[in-house]
Amino acid sequence: MIQFLLNQELRNEHALDPNLTVLNYLREHLGKSGTKEGCASGDCGACTVVVGELHTDAQGAEQIRYRSLNSCLTFVSSLHGKQLISVEDLKHQGQLHSVQQAMVECHGSQCGFCTPGFVMSLFALQKNSDAPDSQKAHEALAGNLCRCTGYRPILAAAEQACCNKPADQFDSRQAETIARLKAIAPTQTAELNSGDKRCLVPLTVADLADLYDAYPQARLLAGGTDLALEVTQFHRTLPVMIYVGNIEEMKRIESFDDRLEIGAATALSDCYSALHHEYPDFGELLHRFASLQIRNQGTLGGNIGNASPIGDSPPLLIALGAQIVLCKGETRRTLALEDYFIDYRVTARQDSEFIEKIIVPKGHTLFRAYKVSKRLDDDISAVCAAFNLKLDNGVISQARVAFGGMAATPKRAKSCEAVLVGATWNAATVEKACAALAEDFTPLSDFRASKEYRLLSAQNLLRKYFIELQTPHIETRVTAYV
Ligand SMILES: Cc1cc2nc3c(=O)[nH]c(=O)nc-3n(C[C@H](O)[C@H](O)[C@H](O)COP(=O)(O)OP(=O)(O)OC[C@H]3O[C@@H](n4cnc5c(N)ncnc54)[C@H](O)[C@@H]3O)c2cc1C
Ligand code: FES
Ligand code: FES
Repeated sequence: MIQFLLNQELRNEHALDPNLTVLNYLREHLGKSGTKEGCASGDCGACTVVVGELHTDAQGAEQIRYRSLNSCLTFVSSLHGKQLISVEDLKHQGQLHSVQQAMVECHGSQCGFCTPGFVMSLFALQKNSDAPDSQKAHEALAGNLCRCTGYRPILAAAEQACCNKPADQFDSRQAETIARLKAIAPTQTAELNSGDKRCLVPLTVADLADLYDAYPQARLLAGGTDLALEVTQFHRTLPVMIYVGNIEEMKRIESFDDRLEIGAATALSDCYSALHHEYPDFGELLHRFASLQIRNQGTLGGNIGNASPIGDSPPLLIALGAQIVLCKGETRRTLALEDYFIDYRVTARQDSEFIEKIIVPKGHTLFRAYKVSKRLDDDISAVCAAFNLKLDNGVISQARVAFGGMAATPKRAKSCEAVLVGATWNAATVEKACAALAEDFTPLSDFRASKEYRLLSAQNLLRKYFIELQTPHIETRVTAYV
């Protein structure tokens, strides 16, 4: 059985299909049709809901952290121990919520189909803001598409909602909600099942290892932003899933003198500050990774586990020399991330083995990352490049260069690196290294970019990197377009 709060109502669910998304649960099981389905693939934001979770802040105070999610990609089992808030819950005692009122007063809606999603993103923004901040508003709304109103009035509504924050019913009930969430905090592995379909929800790494051993055919579910597409886009059924999102040990980020250790189930939003602090370009790239809803849900381990050739974090992590810790039963092994990817969607992971954490070395390096995509926000890379050089008196002593979108896997550019190491860091060396990239990669043409475009982009990104290191005041990093 799984337990969660539907706003303030306790729900005990045990006989639901684990392939059921929160969107379909709300609309079809509960008749709450305010949450809309636009794409069922995480792209439009019409299905946005807010999930509240117990959270201890930096001062040690217990709070509820509210985050926007795409309900079309969230399986119901992920709600275990949490609070689900949908658009129906905002109006209170006959009064619109202040974010809804702001949308009305700023004329932020025409046909209204996208509006519930915008309202929920604004609600999460308001809950997480102390003052209006246009960059934060842009970030909060980048995962919501509107075809007819236009974004200016919606951004005006965001500003009004964050200027005027009257206490709402969620504030007045905060202490009660915290108590209720504590009362349903999971204490042991839970299970949601229907017939022979099941989703297991363990709380510890040891329990996960045991369960994965018992069910080697299970699919690991983290944020579900890749996995759920198998259900919503390809109409497959996933008979056994193991949800890793309630395992606190796998959601920790630990900082040591020489490295960061990031639990594989850490949401990308939570990775941001640690990675940005150490490597600003990594943080910049995470800002351009999907949308806020996806980053609140999707995890670093899922981005690696998915083994997509166009996943954004692997090239960066490979260029940084990251390792992963793989766990199977009681056995652990540490592997360089570049050795994890073997061929298209083929990895070094064995049956019942899972990624427990990612180890990112610290240290001063000339690390830069670039993402080339058709849109700035909420788009997947055509090419993603990461460069990491060490210079000693103008001579390159170490080079790690990695790309996504250039091969069947995220991959190091070994010929390019061979040209760089030992050479003087100048324009002539860069041109030789660019030529070597043609030996490293034979990219494919697809709807994101042609093979010629990909290779030329990769070479131009290396030139860009060189120019930026020569003239560090130039602010052209990360953003580039097909
Ligand atoms: C609209 C949209 C936009 C996107 N934009 C981007 C983008 O800009 N850049 C990008 O890189 N990706 C993007 N993605 C893809 C996706 O969001 C990321 O790959 C994300 O990091 C996946 O994490 P998750 O936790 O949701 O993984 P899940 O979907 O839960 O899992 C993905 C795969 O990894 C496996 N897995 C999960 N955890 C582990 C583990 N601990 N050990 C081993 N295997 C594991 C799962 O079994 C599954 O096969 C986008 C997706 C959508 C829907
Ligand atoms: S329905 Fe489009 S993001 Fe969920
Ligand atoms: S109001 Fe019509 S799509 Fe946004």
